[in-house]
Amino acid sequence: MSTFALLAYLGASVCFILGLKMLSSARTARQGNFLSGFGMLLAIVVTLMDQKILSFEYIIAGLLVGSAIGLYLAIRVQMTDMPQMVGVLNGLGGGASTLVAYAEYLRLSGDTAINVWAGGEVDLVVLITIVLSIMIGTVTIVGSIVAAAKLHGIMKSAPILYPMQKQINAAILFAIFVMGGLFVADPSLWYLPLAIIGLAMILGVTSVIPIGGADMPVVISLMNSYSGLAGAMTGFVLGNNVLIISGTLVGTSGIILTDIMCKAMNRSLANVLFAGVGADYSPDEAAGEQKTVIRYTPEDVASILENAQSVIIVPGYGLAVAQAQHVLQELAGLLVARGVEVRYGIHPVAGRMPGHMNVLLAEANVPYDLLLEMDQINDDFQNTDVALVIGANDVVNPGARHKKNSPLYGMPILNADRARTVMVCKRSLNPGFAGEDNELFYQKNTMMVFGDAKSTLTNLVGMMKK
Ligand code: TAP
Repeated sequence: MSTFALLAYLGASVCFILGLKMLSSARTARQGNFLSGFGMLLAIVVTLMDQKILSFEYIIAGLLVGSAIGLYLAIRVQMTDMPQMVGVLNGLGGGASTLVAYAEYLRLSGDTAINVWAGGEVDLVVLITIVLSIMIGTVTIVGSIVAAAKLHGIMKSAPILYPMQKQINAAILFAIFVMGGLFVADPSLWYLPLAIIGLAMILGVTSVIPIGGADMPVVISLMNSYSGLAGAMTGFVLGNNVLIISGTLVGTSGIILTDIMCKAMNRSLANVLFAGVGADYSPDEAAGEQKTVIRYTPEDVASILENAQSVIIVPGYGLAVAQAQHVLQELAGLLVARGVEVRYGIHPVAGRMPGHMNVLLAEANVPYDLLLEMDQINDDFQNTDVALVIGANDVVNPGARHKKNSPLYGMPILNADRARTVMVCKRSLNPGFAGEDNELFYQKNTMMVFGDAKSTLTNLVGMMKK
C-alpha cells in the first residue's frame, strides 16, 4: 500500500475519532456526523484508487443501486420507524462483513498460483478472522432483523421462551467454535464456512427472541457493537487498517452505549441476554380488578397549567408518533412567558432509540439546557406543581419500583408520580412498549387527558393564546 494511502487512512481515522467525540454533545453532533462521513468518503475513495480490486463498472453499478435503495428508504421512513431502520442498517453492516470474509475465502481458494491450502501460505490470523467475521456478521444481520421485527410489531415483543433455551444457545455456539477450529486446521473443507453461516443464522434468531420488549434498547446497541466487531475482523481478513480502526471504534462505542442502556434499565448485560426478563409475567393478571381513572378536558388542564409555578414535561414515544414536538415547544414558550418554570425530564430509554427525545426536541429548537437527564431532575418532581406527561408510559410507570414479576421491574423511572399534579396526555389506557398496565393513571393526583398528543396540545395552545 502506498504511503499516500496510509496517510489518507490515518487522516480518515482522525476524522472518525474527532467525529465520535463531537457526537457526545448535542451542540456539536451534526458537525461530528459530517466529519465522520467525510472520513469514510476519504477512506472509500483511497481504497478504490489504491487497491484496484474490481473494475469500476461494478462499483458504480453497486453504488447507484445501493444509493437509490438507501435514499428511497430514508425518505419514506417515518420518524417513529427510525429505530427499526437503524437496526436493519446495523444488520446490513454485519451482513456485508460476512459476504466480504466469505468472498475473500473463495478468492484465496481459487488462487492456485499461491496454492494456499497445500502450501500453508495463508496467515493463521486471516483464517481465524474469516471464521469470526462470518460468525459475528451473520448473528448481527439475523439478530438485527429479529429485533427490527419485534420493534415493528411483526413479531411478538414479549420474550419467547422454551425449555433448555440457554443450553441450546450454548451448544450452537460451541458447535460453531468446533467447526471454526476444524476449518482453521484444514481450510480446504469448503463446507465448514457454510455450516458456520447456517448455525450463526439460527443463533441470531435464538439469541434475540428470548429478550423482552422493554430490553430491546440493549439489543439494538449490542447489535450495533457486533456490526463494528465483524467489520474489524474483516479488516484483519483483508489487511485493511482503516477497517480495523473504524470497526473497533463502532464495536467499542456500541459496547459503551450498551452499558449505558443496561444502567438505564438497571440490569446487567448477562441478565438481559440470559435471564428472559419478564418471562413469567401475565399482563392479564390484574384484569379482574376494577380501577377508575379521572378524565379531564384540555380546558381543565389549561387553567391548572396557567396557575402553576413549575412544570416538568416528560416526553415519550407518543410525542414522536403524534409529531407534536413543535406545538409542545410553543406551549412551553407560552408558559415561560407567563413566568412558569418549565423543564424537560428525559429518560434514557424514552422513545424507541437512544437519544430519541433529544433529537425530537432539538428538531423543535428546545434549548438544550432545559433538557435534564433522569438523575439531574428526579429529586425535583416532589417540589414541582405539574408533571406533564406527553405520550410517555413505561418510563413513568411506578410499578417498575415494586412489581417483581413485571417486565419493567428494576428499571429506574422518572418520578412523575411524585409531582403535586400529574397530567397524562395519551389516546387511551393502552399499555406502553412493555405491555404493562400503568399505576400512574389511577393515582388520585393524576389527570388523564385522552386524545392524540398533537390535537390536545394544539387545543391547549389555542386556549392559552386567548
Ligand atoms: P411507551 O411506554 O412505548 O408508551 C408510549 C405511549 O404513547 C403509549 O402508551 C401510547 O398510548 C402513547 N401514544 C402513542 N401514540 C400517541 C399519540 N398519537 N398521541 C398521544 N399518545 C400516543 O413509551 P415510553 O414511555 O417513551 O417508553 C419507551 C419504551 O420503549 C420503554 O419500554 C423502552 O424500554 C422501550 N424501547 C426503548 C428504546 C430506546 S433505545 N429508547 C428502544 C426500544 C424499546 P395510547 O395508545 O393510549 O395513545
